[in-house]
Amino acid sequence: MKNKKNKSSSIAKVLEVIPIAVQPPINHVDLRNALNNLSAKEWIPETISVWNQKGLGAGHADARIEKEHPAPFSYTDISRLIRFFTKKGEMVLDPFVGIGSTLKACALEERKGIGIELNPRFAKLSRERLAKEVGDIFSTVGEQTVIEGDARKVLKTLKPNSLDFVVTSPPYWSILKKKADHKVKQARVSHGLAKDYGSDPRDLGNVEKYDEFLVELGAILGQCVLALKPGKYMAVIVSDFRDKSKFIMFHADLAREMEERGLEMRGLKVLYQRHKKIFPYGYPYAYVPNIHNQFILILQKPK
Ligand SMILES: C[S@@+](CC[C@H](N)C(=O)[O-])C[C@H]1O[C@@H](n2cnc3c(N)ncnc32)[C@H](O)[C@@H]1O
Repeated sequence: MKNKKNKSSSIAKVLEVIPIAVQPPINHVDLRNALNNLSAKEWIPETISVWNQKGLGAGHADARIEKEHPAPFSYTDISRLIRFFTKKGEMVLDPFVGIGSTLKACALEERKGIGIELNPRFAKLSRERLAKEVGDIFSTVGEQTVIEGDARKVLKTLKPNSLDFVVTSPPYWSILKKKADHKVKQARVSHGLAKDYGSDPRDLGNVEKYDEFLVELGAILGQCVLALKPGKYMAVIVSDFRDKSKFIMFHADLAREMEERGLEMRGLKVLYQRHKKIFPYGYPYAYVPNIHNQFILILQKPK
């Protein structure tokens, strides 16, 4: 409660330095705001570069389908991004939609979503999740489309310059196939849950070499850029990782790849995953990090 009070008083202070004549109405949407439906009071905290990841918690009734996927993101974090980067009724794409977290966020936030997923089981679970967790209360469930298939092919069917926002989290190379996080993996296997995305050779998680994976992922996201309207944004959620003892700065490699494909980097958010378990990696011989954050790369298509 105290924290909330401090936050709003510091936002009020920020607004004080804006000349009165152009001061935005703190609780109203500024008429010049072409990006979202947020007031100044709602907009400003969203520009902070560190967020705490906010999930439902494993015990929540609505976490049942989410748990079926080995690497879902939290729809509540995606809702925040969608609220910032779109207005109600606008069109959002996730080319790696998994079990449909982005579409659930779109339905709740009254945006239209398109999700592409290669794995038929995850695609089916996405539809089931929308029906069970959002249901009829929100008419926008009907505005969500799950397309089962390879993103490389499906993206070719999208109209150029038609999307208002792209938000996604791709496979992180083939790390789910590696041994590094074997304790987490063993726990999933013992509960009968999927430990990776499957063996389909079109799955980006099955590309053997890191450099090839980066180029393939860059090409898919490059196709998304074509479908994005000029001036609109893309948010990509990734984590760095280890390949044996080598630390791979995936977020930086991907940012460079995307800049080469015409997007401009606008910012980086650190998503702190404070709920993650800590393992004694490396102890007592070497520094091996417990990686407890993801990055949200925020890029814009030039106007
Ligand atoms: C990190 S997961 C996304 C999880 C998703 N954000 C969620 O919350 O459920 C990446 C997804 O990409 C899918 N995928 C991998 N290669 C693909 C491809 N070529 N086309 C479409 N989907 C693909 C995988 O099956 C996996 O579900």
